[in-house]
Amino acid sequence: MSDLQFTNNWFDSVARNVWESLITQIKISKILEVGSYEGASVCYLIEKLGNQLELEIHCIDTWEGGIEHQAGSAAEADMQSVELRFKHNIETARNRVAKPVDLHIHKGYSDAVLPKLLSEGKRNYFDFIYIDGSHQAPDVLFDAVVGFSLLKVGGVMAFDDYLWFENLPHGKDPLRCPKPAIDAFININFRKLQVMFSPNYQIYIQKVAH
Ligand SMILES: C[S@@+](CC[C@H](N)C(=O)[O-])C[C@H]1O[C@@H](n2cnc3c(N)ncnc32)[C@H](O)[C@@H]1O
Repeated sequence: MSDLQFTNNWFDSVARNVWESLITQIKISKILEVGSYEGASVCYLIEKLGNQLELEIHCIDTWEGGIEHQAGSAAEADMQSVELRFKHNIETARNRVAKPVDLHIHKGYSDAVLPKLLSEGKRNYFDFIYIDGSHQAPDVLFDAVVGFSLLKVGGVMAFDDYLWFENLPHGKDPLRCPKPAIDAFININFRKLQVMFSPNYQIYIQKVAH
């Protein structure tokens, strides 16, 4: 029986099956996540990989929520409780596996934390980066560009919610969804990456050159 506490199935419904296959294709031991919420995605990686490999995991989140968690939205959340569940879940997962998990929790905005990681020498460092933070196009573009510098050649960067958008009275707002930012990032870095696959509203790229 699992004593992990999750209030949604975001990870299970879109990513779990894809990651089952991905972790057989690349070696993942250094992990960066932008947007951790209750820790579902990171707990999956700890429990799947943590008996075979020592893991280094960096989680970035404000625990303030994004536009999709605002008052009145379907995903409205008490973010203080979300953060407490994140800490509980991560500790539970970590205590269940045989190998040490070097866990770094960065509470803050990704546009402050990602450059800090870069300035600390983590260029070309991570095997796997999951971009699942802000859904605003300028923020997603920032996360993608700086995240790509932190990714090693051969490493994989996954974007959640590639096709997510809000149903607004005036239609889609291209600045309030991830796709225009992710497309711009992919197009500009076309020679340095390959698109691996795009299942379930997500998109996965692999870095092939600096
Ligand atoms: C969709 S949730 C992450 C879900 C998680 N990866 C999972 O699979 O369960 C998005 C998270 O991003 C965080 N977030 C939103 N904008 C952010 C920003 N600019 N910097 C850091 N975190 C942010 C929110 O607080 C929220 O917890």
